[in-house]
Amino acid sequence: MCGIVGYVGHQSAVSMLLNSLKKLEYRGYDSSGIGIVDANKRKIAFRKDQGKISNLEKMLNARPLPESHLGISHTRWATHGAPNKKNAHPHFDTSKKIFIVHNGIIENYESLKKDLIKKGHKFISDTDTEVIVHLISDFYNGDIFHATQKAVKKLRGAFALGVICEDSPEQLIAARIGSPLIIGVGDHENFIASDVPAILESTNKIIYLKDGQMATLTSDRVDVFDFDGKPVKAKVDEVTFSVDAVQKQGFDHFMLKEIHEQPAVLEQMLKARLKGSKVSLEGLHLTDQQLKDVEHVFIVACGTAYHAGLVGKYIIEKLARTPVSIDVSSEFRYRDPIIDKKTLVVAISQSGETADTLAAVREAKNKGAKVVSICNVVGSSLVRESDGVLYTHAGPEIGVASTKAYTAQVMMLFFMAIKFSQIKNEKGSALTKDLMAAMKELPALYTSILKSKRGIAQVARKNSHFGCFLFLGRNINFPSALEGALKLKEISYIPAEGYAAGEMKHGPIALIDEYRAVVCVVPQSDIYEKMISNIQEIKARKGKIIAIATEGDQQIKPHANHVVYVPRTHELLTPLVVALPLQLIAYYISVQQGCDVDQPRNLAKSVTVE
Ligand code: AGP
Repeated sequence: MCGIVGYVGHQSAVSMLLNSLKKLEYRGYDSSGIGIVDANKRKIAFRKDQGKISNLEKMLNARPLPESHLGISHTRWATHGAPNKKNAHPHFDTSKKIFIVHNGIIENYESLKKDLIKKGHKFISDTDTEVIVHLISDFYNGDIFHATQKAVKKLRGAFALGVICEDSPEQLIAARIGSPLIIGVGDHENFIASDVPAILESTNKIIYLKDGQMATLTSDRVDVFDFDGKPVKAKVDEVTFSVDAVQKQGFDHFMLKEIHEQPAVLEQMLKARLKGSKVSLEGLHLTDQQLKDVEHVFIVACGTAYHAGLVGKYIIEKLARTPVSIDVSSEFRYRDPIIDKKTLVVAISQSGETADTLAAVREAKNKGAKVVSICNVVGSSLVRESDGVLYTHAGPEIGVASTKAYTAQVMMLFFMAIKFSQIKNEKGSALTKDLMAAMKELPALYTSILKSKRGIAQVARKNSHFGCFLFLGRNINFPSALEGALKLKEISYIPAEGYAAGEMKHGPIALIDEYRAVVCVVPQSDIYEKMISNIQEIKARKGKIIAIATEGDQQIKPHANHVVYVPRTHELLTPLVVALPLQLIAYYISVQQGCDVDQPRNLAKSVTVE
């Protein structure tokens, strides 16, 4: 997602736009820009640069823009086109009369671009956004509102738009479908923005533009229309949030907000990648034959991404019957791994900047392997060094503890496993068919778990006094135990260890007494009874048991001190379903401990050093 701001009013547009934009940096920060209409010469001018908004600020200090009272600005989270100056917004038409900023994805941009090029429009960037401004220009005959109105009706996908034109130096145009856009109603000034924090210092009077609506703004009036140009009576709300709260959209922490974004993230992934009975691995850049030739998959990653990779190992082997090795990147890079051109290395990284994973990828390529990455940041270093990339498009993950990126990585690995199975293992078709059907239910299952978060919070608070936690799981939920332990330790600083439940009797059971909390991941599965045996061993030694179990499971009750239920799903999908309560347990214990949930001590969001 990106952040956009527009301003028209009596104050300096440049300083207003810059200050407002900074409050949207959490929405994306790989490049930014400002476009204004010069108050005297009635000419449009702009500045844009790669990197954070601070880079744009430095550029403006060195090369100030002229005085203006009308402008638009943008901070980017790249989806199409690398994060560089050329692709930064605002984008302009060939005549440089019309400028726009955009948040969203235009699905039919390629066909529109072809037609516009035939008509002589000159494109500069690799973005989908640039199509919009040339389309407006194509319709433009002196009336910027009607040209924009005609253009938006040709677009498919999601967009929140800010449009200015040098022939209309007092007017700002806005339009939206699928991406948020609000209007701030000020005193002789009006605003548009992706989110309320951007303009809260200037006004708390907000019009929440709805899908299929446009607006014209001057310094003294705001008019709202539908896409057919019919006037709409817009309600002006008054918000009472603090700026900080609104950036988190009312959640206490970015981590909690990102936990709640997971149903939408999974939904957009399913929509983008599950096409009937087929899976789209757009971005992989490998033919089916090349996939068929893969004899060995090697997954490299760090931390939470490594745990996602462990789930990937189970499902790719189960579905495609292709051997999968996995290593933490920091080990892989020094172990002289056995890989060759028949090996497909899968590098998983939310940030795409993790030094160990980058080094592992270089090592793999030196040994002749093809490398594909599963990544959340468009144009990151890892992406540039990979032969193919599967973007999770989970949106910026601000909380240091990875949540939505983890579940998006696991989801992407399911897509990969299904694709591999369809190419390499005809016998797996019934299983992949069942899985694809069950995957479509996941967003709804996540939503239902989030509805029961109060109960999960209670369990967390009742157990937050324990000085040490064990997390146990088996088979495909062994990685879930590791991930649950990592989530807890990294945001609450409580010692927590994830273990394969079957391994307890080989040593760790010595830890068990009434002072230990043991989280057992025990959904319905073929190894359910095995887990119950392990739980009984712990209970016999007075361990306090928190079970994550399947709704309706009565058998677990006498064995556990607390039970957190999750909805029933396909056994192979349980890691995705149990991830949510494990995240919430860690979150609520951390809050109870008074820790800095979003920026835990000693940690960084992206570990760009060895
Ligand atoms: C996850 O909660 C941690 N913050 C950390 O383990 C993280 O997963 C790891 O550093 C890998 O980061 P990446 O996905 O950006 O490569």
